[in-house]
Parts: sequence; C-alpha cells; structure tokens
Amino acid sequence: MPAFYRTRKLRSQVALLIVGIIICFYFIIIILNSLDWGVEDDLLYNIAEDIPIGTREYPILLWWTPFTGESGAFKRCGKEICFFTEQRKYFTDDLTKAILFYGSSFSPTDLPLPRMPYHDWALLHEESPKNNYLFSMEKVMKLFNHTATFRRESDLPLTLQYLQSLDSLKSKKFFVPTAVKSLKSKELAPVVYVQTDCNTPSERDSYVEELAKHIPVDSYGKCLQNKELPPGLTDAASSFNSEAFFFILSQYKFNLAFENAVCRDYITEKLWRPLEIGSVPIYYGSPAVEDWLPNPESAILAKNFASPKHLAEHLLRLKADDEAYERHLEHKILNKISNKRLIEGTAYREWGVNNDLTKPNFIDSFECLVCKRVAENYRREQKGQKRKKYQATMEHYGCPEPVSPFTLEPDSSSWWLELYNKAKFEAAALEKLLNRGANFSATEFFQEVINLLENNASQ
Ligand SMILES: *[C@@H]1O[C@H](CO)[C@@H](O)[C@H](O)[C@H]1NC(C)=O
Ligand SMILES: *[C@@H]1O[C@H](CO)[C@@H](O)[C@H](O)[C@H]1NC(C)=O
Repeated sequence: MPAFYRTRKLRSQVALLIVGIIICFYFIIIILNSLDWGVEDDLLYNIAEDIPIGTREYPILLWWTPFTGESGAFKRCGKEICFFTEQRKYFTDDLTKAILFYGSSFSPTDLPLPRMPYHDWALLHEESPKNNYLFSMEKVMKLFNHTATFRRESDLPLTLQYLQSLDSLKSKKFFVPTAVKSLKSKELAPVVYVQTDCNTPSERDSYVEELAKHIPVDSYGKCLQNKELPPGLTDAASSFNSEAFFFILSQYKFNLAFENAVCRDYITEKLWRPLEIGSVPIYYGSPAVEDWLPNPESAILAKNFASPKHLAEHLLRLKADDEAYERHLEHKILNKISNKRLIEGTAYREWGVNNDLTKPNFIDSFECLVCKRVAENYRREQKGQKRKKYQATMEHYGCPEPVSPFTLEPDSSSWWLELYNKAKFEAAALEKLLNRGANFSATEFFQEVINLLENNASQ
C-alpha cells in the first residue's frame, strides 16, 4: 500500500478515536449526573421561605431555644419534609408536632406550655453537665422523646463528635519518634497540661497539682501555668488550636487528657488530640473510655491508679523504658487500629466533623431524625393508626453526681455538688408544676423550689 494511503488511513483512525473519546466522556458525565450518591438524599435543603400558616401539610418543628437562626424553612429529610422555624408564633399551630431544645439554653422558667399530647420534645446537647445539671435528673430526661447527646444510648449518638477520622489517628504528620522525645527531655518535662478552664466539675486541676508533686508537668494554659508559650504563639485562645502548637505538644511523651466532667461517653478532643499527634494520653473522664480507644493500651487511665503518686511512679518507669512506652503507640508505629466499635462508629456516622462538606453536620442530622419520626407519626395519626412511642431515659444523658477525683466520693465542699443538688430540687419542682398541666410563671417555679428545699431541710 502506498505511504499516501497509509497516512490517510491513520488520520481517519485518529479522528475516529477522538470522536469516540468525546462520546465516551459525554456518556460518562451523563451517567455520573444521574447516579444517586446516597449522601445527597439525606442532605437538607431549603425548599421555600416562610410559607403562611394554613397553606401546607407538613409537620412544623419549632426550635424553642434559638439555635439555627432560621426564621422558617421547609427542609427535606430523605422521603420526609418538615417546616423548621425559631419563631414562637408557630407554637399554637396545630401542625407543630415537635419542639426542639438546645440543652445549654433549656430553662424551666421558659417552656412551651401548655404541652399538647402531640408535642414531642427533642433535646440536642453535646456538652457536659457543666452547662446544665438538669439533664442529670431522670425527671427531666423523661420529658423528652428524642435525643442527640454524647451517650451511645441516645437516639443520635455524638460520642465521636471530636474525632476527625481513623486516618487522623494513624497520620504521622505531628509524630515525634521516641528517641527524639527522649532527647527533648532536657528542656521539656515528660508530661504536658494545657487547660484554660480551671474550675470544673471533674476538679481536674487539683488532681494535676498533686500529680505534679511527683513528676514534672509543663503547663502552658491558664490553669497551673508554669511555662510560657514560645514567641509567636502568645494569644492562648487561637494558639492552642494551631498546628504550630501541636508540633510542640507532640514532643512530649505524655499529654494530660482530663475532661471537665466525668460522664459515660463524654469524650472530647482532649483524648483525640494526643492520639492524633502521637503523644500518649493520660486520661480522666468517661469511665467507659476503653470502649472507644484505637487499641487497648492507647491511653493510660488515671482511674486505674490508687493515687496521683502511683500514676506518677508508673509514668516515670515508662519514660525510661522505650519498649513499654511504644506499646501505647501502636496506632502510630504499627498503623494499627483494632477496636471494631471505633472503626464502625466512624464508618457509619452520618454526620461529618469540622465542616466535612461530604456529609451533613450533626445539627442537620438531629433535625432530620426528629423530622422523620414526627412525619411518620403524623401520617399514622391521619390514617387513624396509633403513633409510635418515643421516650428518653437516664441512659440518654444521665451523668452521675460530681465526685472528688481522689476519693471518687461526693465532695461536700464542692460548688459543683451544690449545683447538682440544686438541680435535683429544680427537677422535682418542674415535675410537680408540669403535672398540673398548665402554664406557670418563673415566680411560681422558684417558690416551688424553695418549698421543696424547706420541706427537705425540716425533715
Ligand atoms: C406562659 O405564661 C407566661 C406569663 O405567665 C407568658 O409570658 C408565656 O408566654 C406563657 N407561655 C405560653 C406558651 O403560653
Ligand atoms: C413524648 O413524651 C411524653 C412525656 O413522656 C409522652 O407523654 C408522649 O406520649 C411521648 N410521645 C411519643 C410520640 O411517644
């Protein structure tokens, strides 16, 4: 075949190939667009703004404690649609089927009353009882139908709310090898503490103060401070969350990870941060924290030591024994995470952490949980069927009374124990007034609390 024909044939083949590629791309794009990505279905989006009362058939969910800043919007949750609003004028609307509360703002003297039989109450509270002791009381928890708290037993468990991902636990971005940490020990203490909130229900500062008598502790925060931040890191509030600071913390063998309150499953970045940067956390907080650790030895638990002195002695031994020390860092050194509960907990949570745009945040997830349940019950009601029952219990939050970190007994001189006990009487007064089935004033409420306190004192 003459060369002339060969190049012509080649040219037409190339042209065909290019046309083919373009057509393929076109189809791939069409197919990708038509695919249902799963997540999308659950993402919320606004359908319309503030439609007048009476022109709609969807349940209204009223945020009683202003939280989302939303005056009113329809949102889709899977197959269901609900109207979410913060405007209290909707309280008397027949379609208002659920009232949503943010725990820190929940107040017995400002409640949506009278409560109708079809008014579900829903509680979002990811915080510890430091903000509000009422949820430690069974009488208060029983008022709610739906919950999202740190407890694994709640309807939407937020236990892993401060953990970015499993990869962040394995990442070596901030990791400092043991030999380098040992070299640093000339300038740095073996243990570091960073806290800006010094007066807490867990009384962590008094424990750390005692611990520091037996092992050197560097403290950068406001609490028990004995070390200055390096130049350039002077503004504590922003520095403590900066990568530059994480590079400092990761040079320490041990990071104190003490929660502000001791509650089952109340676990914060205090635990996850040392795990992420590759320092060993000394943990005090959730009594069931073992259930969530990457590996059984990933943290050293203060509760396993008879006293701060015993803990200090153990840390001093570990500090001098690299092999024993590194057994606590398997997630970093061996890239190993063996805890199935933790693996599944991060895999199946439907909300994202830190503006993860591929998933809704947990506030959206909470709104949708309530919307789906309430919308289903509304349909059942319309069909003359019985509504499904939803009832929160102590297991949905239920933190125990605050105790001394030394004796693990209530400490009668503690201000937090006083707050806890006050909440007991408030819960009792609330129950009594709610049982009347009518609205009550703040004065009536406080009078009832005083009556109960006086009765108690005279007994
Ligand atoms: C309950 O009563 C107080 C005053 O006694 C009033 O300000 C409040 O709006 C009432 N709440 C409801 C939901 O009716
Ligand atoms: C919601 O909780 C209240 C108070 O316990 C209860 O009376 C009501 O029946 C519950 N609603 C549902 C739908 O279970």
